[in-house]
Amino acid sequence: MSQNKTRKPTNAQWGGRFTSGPSEVMERINASIGFDQRFFAQDIAGSRAHAQMLVAQGILSSEDGQAIENGLDTILADIEAGTFKFKVELEDIHMNIESKLRELIGDAAGRLHTARSRNDQVATDFRLWVRDEIDSLGKQLVGLQAVLIDKAEAHADTVMPGFTHLQTAQPVTFGHHLLAYVEMFGRDRGRFSDTRTRLNESPLGAGALAGTSFPIDRTATASHLGFDRPMANSLDAVSDRDFALEFLSAAAICTTHISRFSEELVAWCSDGFRFISLSDAYTTGSSMMPQKRNPDAAELSRGKTGRVYGALIGLLTVMKGLPLAYSKDMQEDKEPVFDAADSLALALAAITGMVGDMQAEPENMHAAAGKGHSTATDLADWLVRAAGVPFRDAHAITGTIVALAEEKGVTLTELSLGDMQGVDKRISADVYNVLSVEASVASRTSLGGTAPINVRAAAAEARARFLVPEGIE
Ligand code: ARG
Repeated sequence: MSQNKTRKPTNAQWGGRFTSGPSEVMERINASIGFDQRFFAQDIAGSRAHAQMLVAQGILSSEDGQAIENGLDTILADIEAGTFKFKVELEDIHMNIESKLRELIGDAAGRLHTARSRNDQVATDFRLWVRDEIDSLGKQLVGLQAVLIDKAEAHADTVMPGFTHLQTAQPVTFGHHLLAYVEMFGRDRGRFSDTRTRLNESPLGAGALAGTSFPIDRTATASHLGFDRPMANSLDAVSDRDFALEFLSAAAICTTHISRFSEELVAWCSDGFRFISLSDAYTTGSSMMPQKRNPDAAELSRGKTGRVYGALIGLLTVMKGLPLAYSKDMQEDKEPVFDAADSLALALAAITGMVGDMQAEPENMHAAAGKGHSTATDLADWLVRAAGVPFRDAHAITGTIVALAEEKGVTLTELSLGDMQGVDKRISADVYNVLSVEASVASRTSLGGTAPINVRAAAAEARARFLVPEGIE
């Protein structure tokens, strides 16, 4: 009793059967307005679609419809101007907007919620929000591909070491290496756009879970909101969040690519490599060591990956045990998606900036490319081609020659013909033509190979495949 005195009044939207308001902790655990206010534009768009459909179906008078439209205009302008006061006691964005609408236009506001529930409303808002995010991330990915292709073209001839196991393997070109990422980010775009295709169905009109007895037109609201069609099953419409999980899965894979590239940027500007340098714009200094230039933006782009993976695992875990249809657990679906989308957008912006900013150091790359007997495969291939030696034997002969070079402390090109012939007398002076790193990369003309001529063609082809249809703004 005494507790009830300190309690708030019941909620105006759903408190009909309640005699007192929620406890302070109930209010806090229940409220989502702190984060779902990000849905304001989608929520208003959904309400407009719903109201117009209600009028068209004769469920709402056109005067009420007009009043709702005008009220929503005012609310949208207020929120955009930052003058709207969000209230925690009104729980979420849906009730904050509806309650304000009632203040503005009176009873007509209460008619807006005819044949609608917050369950189909929030599912609609969320799909619209993720759809917008996919479109904006898609544009960012195109921008990233564009700068990568530009750099790749500029460095079609720049030789660098290619690694396996992070051991020097065979020379490649820097352009070829960058184009590898263009392909990865292209598939990321594909995953996001597949997600978009599947999510683009409208939950609106599913009601709380079972549909409605009002003669609504779900096809009309779906097309008003740019959805391809209404979702077929009302229970599915309000209760699944697989679109958010797909979005997070695509985001997780994309951040994996960003993270691997970031790791390479970090390595490439370290003293052990010095393949690139980053300017003041993307590095920071140390408060103690005056000589330092740290690639923090690359490290943070790599570090953001943890948040995105966490979001995916978090939401999978929230969803895994829920019976149909809606449970309030599902209010926990939004923050991970917001955080993942923000983290990914920021990492993409940082990576795009760094690709444009980085200066390659071709001399250092070239010197590193020649180390570690990186053209040993070219020697073996030469034995196959010029002397008809089976590849397995050629591999063994080359191994002996590499051991000899190592013993003498020289590179393969520095080894004398006499020394090589001492290992196998079929070797002639022609062999030196294939032992330079330039000759090595130039010879890799197979489809998808690293030869500069291929890289130039691949860059042009990538430009046409990835950039032209979409256009870059
Ligand atoms: N704020 C809620 C959410 O984000 C909206 C849906 C509330 N539905 C309900 N039945 N209480 O999930």
